[in-house]
This record gives sequence, C-alpha cells and structure tokens, in this order.
Amino acid sequence: MKLRIINIHLLINVRSINVLLRGTALADLPIIENAFLEIEDGIILNYGEMQQLKNPQENFDCEIYNANGASVLPCWCDSHTHLVFAASRESEFVDKIKGLSYAEIAANGGGILNSADKLQNATEEELFEKAWNRLTELIALGTGAIEIKSGYGLTVESELKMLRVIKKLKEASPIPIKANFLGAHTYPKEFKENHRGYIDLIKNEMLPIIQKEKLADYIDVFCEEGFFSVEETIEICEAGKAIGLVPKIHANQLHVSKGVEAGVKLGALSVDHLESMDEQAISTLASSNTIGTLLPTAAYFLRMPFQPARALISAGCAIAIASDFNPGSSPSGNMNTVVSMSCIQMKMLPEEAINAATINAAYAMGVEDLVGSITKGKLANLIFTKPIPSLNYLPYAFGSNLIDRVMVKGNFQ
Ligand code: NIG
Ligand code: FE
Repeated sequence: MKLRIINIHLLINVRSINVLLRGTALADLPIIENAFLEIEDGIILNYGEMQQLKNPQENFDCEIYNANGASVLPCWCDSHTHLVFAASRESEFVDKIKGLSYAEIAANGGGILNSADKLQNATEEELFEKAWNRLTELIALGTGAIEIKSGYGLTVESELKMLRVIKKLKEASPIPIKANFLGAHTYPKEFKENHRGYIDLIKNEMLPIIQKEKLADYIDVFCEEGFFSVEETIEICEAGKAIGLVPKIHANQLHVSKGVEAGVKLGALSVDHLESMDEQAISTLASSNTIGTLLPTAAYFLRMPFQPARALISAGCAIAIASDFNPGSSPSGNMNTVVSMSCIQMKMLPEEAINAATINAAYAMGVEDLVGSITKGKLANLIFTKPIPSLNYLPYAFGSNLIDRVMVKGNFQ
C-alpha cells in the first residue's frame, strides 16, 4: 500500500543523487516548500510540490496522511556511539566538578576501566535490555541509523560479549546499525606494562573470532597520549583491515596526537573527536577521503574547547557530527542537542549542521545508500516536526522538543 503525506511545510534535504558534502557545499540544503511525499513498503517513492498534485486528497490507490504544516526531514544518523554499557558514571561527573580531569580520573582506575569492570560482570541479556531501552529512547528523539562500538569489555570474553549484544541489536532493531570493534579503547590493568601482550591478544584472539562470527563492520582505536600510540594504532588497524574491517578511529581528542594523520594514512572512513587540531592535521584531513566527525557534546561535557568546525569547513574537509553517547564523556545520545550545540558553539549554520547530522553522517557510517536524505529508494526514516516558523528555529529553540512524530521504514513509532 502506498502512503501519501500531504501539506508538508518544509521537506528538508531532498536529493536526487547521493553526495558527500565538503567545504562550502555543506551549506547547500535542498528544501521543497509546501510539499508532498509518497512512500511504498517503507521506501521513499516520490516527492514534489503540493501544486503538482491534481487532487491531493483523492487517490484510490493511496492512504493519505495530512502533515498539516509539519516539516519533514530525514532522521539523524548517529555515526559514533558507545550505546552498550552496564552502568552510568555520575560519581565521576561530580569528581570532575570538584576539579579532577578526565585523564586523572582514568589514571586512578576510573573512566573506561570502571565501565569495563561493570561490563565484565553483566550478562549478555542485561546488556541487551539496557541498550535496547536506550535505542528506543534515541529513535523517539529522531535517530534513524546508529553506529555502536565495543570497548568496555577489554578481555576476549567481554569484548565478544559486547559485539554479540550489538549483533542482536542489529537483528532486532528497526533502524540500521553498524558495529565497531574498539578492543583498543584502553590498556586493561594487567597489560598496563605489557602493551605487546594486549595487542597480540587483540590480533591473535579477538580478531579471528570477530571474523568468523562476522561481529564487526569497523575497527576503532583510541589514539591518544596515555592510551594507544600512533604506531600501535596503525598496527591494530592494519590487522583489522586484513580481515575486512574498515578503520574509524578516535583521534585528536585530548592532545594533538597525530591520530588524524594516522587515520588518513590508514584510509580510515572517519577520524572522530578532533577537539585538538593543528594546521597540519586540518590540511591532511582536507586533502583526504576521510571524514572528520565532530563530537561537540563530549567537548561540552568534559569542558574542553569545541572542535574547530569553521576552520575544517574553510579548509575543504568533509565533516559529520555525532553524539559519542557513552557514560564517561557524553551521557546523552540526543542528536537534536548535538545539532543545536554545533550551531551555538561551533558556529555551524543550521543548514551545515543538518547536513552534517544526516547525509554526511550517513557516509561516516556507510549507510548513505539507505538513509541520510529524502531520496527515492532510501528508507522512509523521517522526523515530523511540530509546527516551526523556519528551518533556523530547529537549532535555535535548543531546549524544546520539536519532534512531533518519528517514522521508521514508513511506520510511525
Ligand atoms: O569517545 N575517548 C574515548 N572514549 C570515549 C569515552 C569513554 C569513556 O569515558 O567511557 C569517548 O569520549
Ligand atoms: Fe567515542
């Protein structure tokens, strides 16, 4: 059965062809005013201006839904999350208020190691249920595709447990999910002085099972001082590439770590974070095919300088924005906040932020053929807004929930 949606105020990000937007092109956001949209079997079939329809309300082979002036845009693609975790870490949040830094908390056995302790003691079922509840909440907030990382296991058994939870989420989820293996998130306590031992564990014990059970699409490393060096990052990612995993790495978060240059050298799909960038990192990224994914809510939560979005755009980089949802540095997966914050704190134009959170983010997680724009043949994963006076109102009214309904594969949630 066909569904025709009529009286859409603004139909946002309408594209006949897929394109990764870089530099000034990021501000081009094609919109049809006073539009209709047709969907069949969960797929976008057709769209246009209302005036093209002779009898908009009468069509015998269509169900009609009157949007009554709502605006419609493609769901957000959240290309960087750590959605599977066992417990929140609000006591560290208070430690930070009292003056400890993220690195100090990590050095004291908090941070990622704290999450790993808790996850090692949780069952697959518990982890699935918690992650499923988070996923359901995020879909209601407009997320229509999501990438999920492992990295709180840090043992063979627990990394595989996390990846199996992500695989189950993939099978049960109405929205596309990509799995990213982040065994190299930090060195476990027992390998603190034995990096070679842990890298060998990743290469010889974890990767072969990941390959056999098809547990991941991507490989990630936290390339950072006190975590994994550039050389270690390259070695681990090369081993992942050898079994078909594409690198998407944590780079230049706390320091100018040369993680961007390592990612570009590896042919990474994306390098993510980018709070700490110098001229060389920016120009290397600009002249590559690697996407820079900015995570402004992580900078906000850790009180770090925001990512230099304007410098990246001016240099001609292709950038995306994502939530980094995790219990330590961004305990929010709300992409509406990410879009607002990108405009308010990184001075991205509303058009740029929406493109970075939809079409470019779809590229940053390899789902650009499925979602990320209003394009014939893509999934009807759509956000229906409450009445908004203009596109700019979306990031401007940062504290309001402007989502009226969310549609996934043609079904209202
Ligand atoms: O992306 N930076 C590394 N990993 C996560 C945080 C992990 C944690 O603190 O639990 C991030 O910010
Ligand atoms: Fe992250």
